[in-house]
Amino acid sequence: MRYSEQSLPVAVVPGPLQALEADVVAVPAFEGEGAAAAGVLDGAAGGRVAAAIDGREFTGKLGTIFVTPCLAPGWRLQRIMLVGAGKRGGCDMTAVRRTAATALLASRERRWRRLVFSLPAVLPMADEAQAAAEGLTLAAHYTGIYKSDADARPTAVESLITLPEAASTEDAASAARAASRGYILAACSNLARSLANEPANVVTPRAFAEIAIQIAAESGLKVDVLDEERLSGLNMGLLLGVARGSAESPRLVVLRYEPARPASASVLGLVGKGVTFDTGGISLKDPERMHLMKTDMSGGAAVLAAMKAIAALKPAVAVAGVVPLVENMPGSRAMRPGDVVRGAEGKTVEVLDTDAEGRLILADALWYARQIGATHLVDVATLTGAVGIALGRTTTGLFGCPDSWVSLVGRTANRAGDRAWALPTFDDYREQLRSDIADLANIGGRPAGAITAALFLKEFTGGVPWAHLDIAWTAWADEAQPWQPKGPTGVAVRTLAELACTFEEWPARPA
Ligand code: BES
Ligand code: MN
Ligand code: ZN
Repeated sequence: MRYSEQSLPVAVVPGPLQALEADVVAVPAFEGEGAAAAGVLDGAAGGRVAAAIDGREFTGKLGTIFVTPCLAPGWRLQRIMLVGAGKRGGCDMTAVRRTAATALLASRERRWRRLVFSLPAVLPMADEAQAAAEGLTLAAHYTGIYKSDADARPTAVESLITLPEAASTEDAASAARAASRGYILAACSNLARSLANEPANVVTPRAFAEIAIQIAAESGLKVDVLDEERLSGLNMGLLLGVARGSAESPRLVVLRYEPARPASASVLGLVGKGVTFDTGGISLKDPERMHLMKTDMSGGAAVLAAMKAIAALKPAVAVAGVVPLVENMPGSRAMRPGDVVRGAEGKTVEVLDTDAEGRLILADALWYARQIGATHLVDVATLTGAVGIALGRTTTGLFGCPDSWVSLVGRTANRAGDRAWALPTFDDYREQLRSDIADLANIGGRPAGAITAALFLKEFTGGVPWAHLDIAWTAWADEAQPWQPKGPTGVAVRTLAELACTFEEWPARPA
């Protein structure tokens, strides 16, 4: 795999703008605020900023820009860019992240090398600095890595964040810490995007495990890779059942972060679906969009990348990352519809559809996470098409119990910019998973497909607080936005890493 960091760390510099040297300074501007807001910049732009606002050439709509030369004598900024930040009242970390990303993408396209991003001064300064650093770093990601034309490769843009002039030295120090946190979170999101973008002939279960070993070594995480023999020894018949149809042998990657001085006895268990390619198996998928099933390990990539971020952020709580890795293929030894397989915990499953493979491998992985001590679980998986029918492409499906744990995961996700919304897991849906021959069937029919998939997983959580993020339609952006190109999104990385830092709020384990 060709992974190398494409983003440069984001520095925080004090103002005033006159003192800074750059190709462009990007200044967020809100919708409907009129030319008066342009102030000193308008002077530096020879009146062109106010003219653009008055003439409605630039309206402040999120994702739009206006660029004009900086004419002020003595200034060392070449250009002024207004970046639309949307309505002031709707300004949150997501808006700041998108505004910063829009500015960086626009600069990169024009091959400007040095960008100064000025904070909008609406939210607490540290929140703005973190979100801006995230947006600037996320925008540096590039997906065309197998193109031969070196000229097509984008310019690496060096970006600086500048603070409002009223900022004190303490403000500046806390903004710098927040920006470095944002950089870590976004650079790790980009790692997950790189992994999800790789084709399945490159990222096989074995290759993923090797990358995990390399990342663990670089970041000081403990790592254990279970091969087929050890998985058999643990009786992981659900995971092994899915792997049977492929020539690539399965793996279970286990990463462990242990703080020097834990402040909590809890252990967060993060479990990510790692299907390196999902053909559907004998229940073969339609060919039309099958190539996108190279991204069916996005959950696993999110867990690996979040573990790397956690190792850098160093929360005072232990975290274990578990990634079951298989390729779902229709080989001659593949599982057949109707086969019965048994999981490590002993439960039997009738496999009515071999395309519902994610829940099978996650079941054994959730069990394993508990075996190694997880007291709180979160799994992340490109699990069902049904979640996209319910919530579309912009919102991740959130499930689990108890409510206190699920709502903490939801709040953390929304702050991290990974918007998630809870769907119910009422017990009566479980009827749909009844099998005539085994403990459970692996599909529950079309109605409430994302919910029955979650309820299948719940059977393997042993009553431990558990949340499930179904990212099937949020892991990949089908359409480009001004702040986000088409392709892998890195969804859930920032959520998982930020969640590890909230351990003081975790619910106690039920007795
Ligand atoms: N990996 C797919 C889910 C998926 C669909 C991910 C679209 C990304 C985009 C999963 O393994 C799957 O095939 N799910 C089936 C379940 C069904 C057979 C119950 C589905 O959603 O159709
Ligand atoms: Mn499938
Ligand atoms: Zn799948």
